[in-house]
Amino acid sequence: MSLLIKNCRVLIKDKVYAKNILIRKGRIAKVTNKEPKADSVIDAKNNFVLPGLIDCHVHFREPGLTHKEDFMTGSMAAAKGGITTIFDMPNTLPPTTTLAALDEKRKLAAKSIVNFGLVFGATTNNLADIKKAKNVAAVKLYMDETTGGLKVDDLEAICDIFRMSKITIVHAEDYNVQNAINVMIKNKIKNRLHVAHVSSAQELKYAKQNKLSRQITAEVTPQHLFMNKKDIQVLGAFAEMNPRLKTEQDQKALWEGIKNREVDIIATDHAPHLKEEKEMANYPFGVPGVETMLPLLLDAFNSNKITLTEIVRLCCENPAKIFKIKNKGFLKEGFDADLIIVDLDKRQAVRNEDLLTKCKWSPFEGKILKGWPVTTIVNGNIVYDNGEIFDIKAGEVQYGR
Ligand code: NCD
Ligand code: ZN
Repeated sequence: MSLLIKNCRVLIKDKVYAKNILIRKGRIAKVTNKEPKADSVIDAKNNFVLPGLIDCHVHFREPGLTHKEDFMTGSMAAAKGGITTIFDMPNTLPPTTTLAALDEKRKLAAKSIVNFGLVFGATTNNLADIKKAKNVAAVKLYMDETTGGLKVDDLEAICDIFRMSKITIVHAEDYNVQNAINVMIKNKIKNRLHVAHVSSAQELKYAKQNKLSRQITAEVTPQHLFMNKKDIQVLGAFAEMNPRLKTEQDQKALWEGIKNREVDIIATDHAPHLKEEKEMANYPFGVPGVETMLPLLLDAFNSNKITLTEIVRLCCENPAKIFKIKNKGFLKEGFDADLIIVDLDKRQAVRNEDLLTKCKWSPFEGKILKGWPVTTIVNGNIVYDNGEIFDIKAGEVQYGR
């Protein structure tokens, strides 16, 4: 089976070209000025075609919390949002902290219509399983309290985890970012540390103004880029997440971090909870995000806050490079055909009733955004096109390490 995407605008080294893209056997076979024959043809109508986004931080809640989300609804929402690969976090029920739980999640994730990677959870006593876990995206270490109760605070245990795992994603807030880095320095550990959802100027400083800066990568979420703590006054529980929203100055510092390349990745931390749960006195922290990340970023592109090259670097290329995902993240011949068509001029409001996430709300509800994904192709298959989902299963990503 082959597919030709005609009339594409593509970015090659920061320049824009008009090209046609031929997909064969799930891969990008040709990026060309010619019009090769294909079994089917779609017209991108001179819209930009970008690599699909790789969202290295989602909570699709399966197993155990499927009243909030599951791999089907979560992946449909991701596809609609222009995301073609996700990494699922381990704070499910049971948590993904044993080999049996990892196997179980692998089976459940098979229904995903976007590619998936699985993140293994660290506890104080699962080093042997961390060592044996096969084909995991990374190990996640929680140094601060959050949904799921996976916190590890023993420094020796943390050191062992960093030693064991080639790449650890750490949920660390405030000075804990520095604490994590100190463990690496003191023990001369050469593995990688990826700091999830950096939310303040100070955390970004800890992560990046450090002699290990090349070993340490920083992620920010759209929530922390497009909201600040004033939004909590308006939205209450619906703007509460871990880490909490910070000041306008912090928000600015994250944008500066994008400009000066201190921020390596933008990822959603898609953490859906039901409206009813958010309305309880003891509401859980976390907000959904896979359907709004790219529209927010394209809207920011339209107001000159970010370039398309930066969006592609932060959401496609860097996640692929940092986690060494095989064959993804680039619109290049030979790479997997994970591609999206985006309409930079499409203006539309975020509306709860349009969302495919099970939780059916967004903190950005009502916001009018300019720039939306219109078609999503995963492994050469169209899984989303102008409001319609096609249920074609994707698969687990592989890593080159
Ligand atoms: C996450 C969740 O709900 O699973 N919540 C959040 O506020 N980000 C947990 C987490 O990633 O910390
Ligand atoms: Zn998270």
